[in-house]
Amino acid sequence: MHLITLKDWSTKQINGVIDKSLELKSNPDKYSFALEDKSLAMIFQKTSTRTRLSFEVAMTQLGGHSVYMDWRSTNLVLADLGDETKSISGYVDGIMARVLKNANLVAMSRAASVPVINGCDERYHPCQIIADLVTVKEKKGKLTGLKLAYIGVHNNICNSLIEGCTRTGMKIVTVTPIVSEAAFDGDIVEAAKVTGLYENSLDVKAAVEDADVVYTDTWVDMEFFLDPKFKKEKEKRIKTMLPYQLNKKLLKGSDALIMHDMPIHRGYEISDDIVDDPNSVIYLQSENRLHSAKAILLELLK
Ligand code: CP
Repeated sequence: MHLITLKDWSTKQINGVIDKSLELKSNPDKYSFALEDKSLAMIFQKTSTRTRLSFEVAMTQLGGHSVYMDWRSTNLVLADLGDETKSISGYVDGIMARVLKNANLVAMSRAASVPVINGCDERYHPCQIIADLVTVKEKKGKLTGLKLAYIGVHNNICNSLIEGCTRTGMKIVTVTPIVSEAAFDGDIVEAAKVTGLYENSLDVKAAVEDADVVYTDTWVDMEFFLDPKFKKEKEKRIKTMLPYQLNKKLLKGSDALIMHDMPIHRGYEISDDIVDDPNSVIYLQSENRLHSAKAILLELLK
């Protein structure tokens, strides 16, 4: 079994991994040898802070071992992806990969004889959303019946959040004035509509009003953020999105948890003071990447 999107997992599995993450957080010592003698290849085609750290430290704390591989310094750059993946499968018990194109990750999962975990591609970020749901459950004690407002670009985080919320009984309202064509997954949106738990609106004030959680993400994908070729598009996005910034004015009277998957661009999708607001659980979300990475690894590698 793999984790390319949350579609790969049953609702029971998703809820089980969320609860297991909280158990691992409370009793880490119980699991010190849970993945003894297991190895994980961690392949990165893009930059990362949290995904690399969480999986690398998770493997260490579970008694296993991880191998960091920068895509550009491997023969993935010049050989057949399937051949290389089959070869990598012969050394390790699992592969976690962050790639530019979901199609490449799907090809790797077809070639691999070990589980493949999506460490973020242009369409999905399931590991982040599992950590987010763990954070909400930790703070609120439940998921079902809560409402999350996502305000930002319809991107990979938005896709996986729609899946994660609707699969666990949370209502999600997305306020997405810009839809990333590369990310958009119509199947996720259609499946979410059927649940009655998904709504898309441009009324940001109404979306936030009775929300238990307010979530935002970068307006520009990480691989384009510093790219001079993307400068014009970046400026256009900032102009369109600034009225949708998470700030004190928008959140006046709201008691919602404030979430962001990081990296943060202070002054763009979120104001400086809101990052450090007492309702912000952004750094808890980040820490929970570790506990949820452990639960994901136990689910797939044990
Ligand atoms: N949220 C997240 O995936 O962080 P990194 O890009 O630093 O891994």
